[in-house]
Amino acid sequence: MSNYHIKHFEEYFQVYRKSVRNPEVFWEEIAEEHFLWRKKWDNVLSWDFKKPEIKWFEGAQLNITENCIDRHLHTRGDKTAILFEPNNPEEPTEHITYRQLHERVCKFANVLKSKGIKKGDRVCIYLPMIPELAISVLACARIGAVHSVVFAGFSATALSTRINDCDAKMVLTSDGSYRGAKTIDLKGIVDEALEDCPGVESVLVAKRINSEINMKAGRDEWLQPLLDEAYSDCVIEIMDTEDPLFILYTSGSTGMPKGMLHTTAGYMVYTAYTFKNVFQYRENDVYWCTADIGWITGHSYIVYGPLANGATTVMFEGVPSYPDFGRFWDIVDKHKVTQFYTAPTAIRALAKQGSELVEKYDLSSLKVLGSVGEPINEEAWHWYNENVGKKKSPIVDTWWQTETGGIMITPIPFSTPTKPTYATLPFIGIQPALMDENGKEIKGNQVDGRLCIKFPWPSMARTIWGNHQRYKDTYFSAFEDMYFTGDGALRDEVGFYRITGRVDDVIIVSGHNLGTAPIEDAINEHQAVAESAIVGFPHDVKGNALYGYVTLKDTGEGRDHDNVRKEINQLITDRIGPIAKLDKIQFTTGLPKTRSGKIMRRILRKIASNDAENLGDISTLLNPEVVQDIKDNVL
Ligand code: PRX
Repeated sequence: MSNYHIKHFEEYFQVYRKSVRNPEVFWEEIAEEHFLWRKKWDNVLSWDFKKPEIKWFEGAQLNITENCIDRHLHTRGDKTAILFEPNNPEEPTEHITYRQLHERVCKFANVLKSKGIKKGDRVCIYLPMIPELAISVLACARIGAVHSVVFAGFSATALSTRINDCDAKMVLTSDGSYRGAKTIDLKGIVDEALEDCPGVESVLVAKRINSEINMKAGRDEWLQPLLDEAYSDCVIEIMDTEDPLFILYTSGSTGMPKGMLHTTAGYMVYTAYTFKNVFQYRENDVYWCTADIGWITGHSYIVYGPLANGATTVMFEGVPSYPDFGRFWDIVDKHKVTQFYTAPTAIRALAKQGSELVEKYDLSSLKVLGSVGEPINEEAWHWYNENVGKKKSPIVDTWWQTETGGIMITPIPFSTPTKPTYATLPFIGIQPALMDENGKEIKGNQVDGRLCIKFPWPSMARTIWGNHQRYKDTYFSAFEDMYFTGDGALRDEVGFYRITGRVDDVIIVSGHNLGTAPIEDAINEHQAVAESAIVGFPHDVKGNALYGYVTLKDTGEGRDHDNVRKEINQLITDRIGPIAKLDKIQFTTGLPKTRSGKIMRRILRKIASNDAENLGDISTLLNPEVVQDIKDNVL
């Protein structure tokens, strides 16, 4: 029996049971029946969470682009693979069929080869949401190059850090990008970043906004003339299952961003299988995920998962507010979108605009709605359900992470029930556990704890690029023989999971993971700043916003505090990007610390969240007196 497409509740339980009782048999069947292999595996799974080392489908060979493109050519050659909707609604939509995608990926792959890119080389992609982004990702995968996409909202410093960390030889970018009514000078950012990146040999530039840019002789070239000349077929590189597919950076609670390494076969199998079931994709559906391919959601559920299923996937270049806040609904109406997957922060921003803009459009094509990236609050859930889904489209609140590669806890529409603010049940093959602070598993229902996963799943990240020890320390050391997610969760009386948020120093702002350390480092670069600490506080659109406590070197008297605030935010924008800017900056006489010198963020978090009534015993602090001062001056 094929378990590829789950259609009702009983079937979910049956298949789930099978997948955890005998994972190897289960995943072998899925892999065998639904994908194209150049050579079959010798062993389905070997794993050791102590090392940690995880290998799926060892011994097999494949190419993920053959699975995502070539194998559809016979049956779906003229079907739209990528439906590109530009920033400007006046510009025509582009329908890229599977046949055209094949040709464009092949040409791009040949260009990469002609520039000396070989299997295993890292290519950094810093492109806006234009077709070249998806095509270049696939072109890398076709020749076995490892892509590392950096979201094109990151600053030059953030970009150069990532390029150097993965030692990329090449950067792909564009002359600029559109973002609503604005344009962004991406090539300028790349030029600045590359001043610190001696390893980059070439930069290929896609033309998008027709702006005047600098082209550095011997390094930079326009992409289009190279594509025009390139041969339109490119044989696949045959890859081993555990060969690296991509590196994608995510924030850690301390230090450098972590380059999560995903490998080929397990990632393909799991993203394809989750896509099919979580979105209940059917042949003529038009699926739209509003994420950017610069994030994991875009990798797994704009590019690989949908294309592996021969789906039509929408790629939207713009923003939800341009030309007005009806743009998402306009696109749903125009293309008869059937599955719509977005983030709670977008839902909250749109809900704020009222329902008139939604009602203007025909949304009757919608069948499934999705949410991802942060907890969805009750109000946003109901607004989404009533106004967008008209109470007939189930909402899949999907919990997962850059590290997990694919969706981990989620309802399966029309099979498992939904419940506002709950990600509900583990997906097939996923074995969650809630742990207490002493490292013991908390069994039973109506409990909460730290969310871990007990058993490997195919798309889990295999390491942190260049730092396996950090991978082990971050994910496999807190709890023995468990993958630790960094999130807290509760399990209700029937066993549904609700994610309660991060339990480490990662803060999720508008669905973006931000580590406190790099932001504090940026603040501390200001010559007047002695030290700083940032925490999250609740925000009605962003979910969390950032609150900075900053101690100046002198008393700060006579200084224009607003100016310092502006300068601090400018530093953050330069070092990381505008997404990490602080909403509030409070100047303090000191920061509360333990006797060993650790900043008590818990106290700062409570004060920033207007919850300073019950701070607990602060008498053991090194400097309890600063707490009152901070409370008195809270913003
Ligand atoms: O805290 C969880 C939150 O986002 C974190 C992962 O962020 P990132 O690696 O950027 O991936 C985001 C897209 C998959 C998680 O540790 N998170 C993600 N989805 C949810 C969520 N929190 C609550 N509910 C969700 N559905």
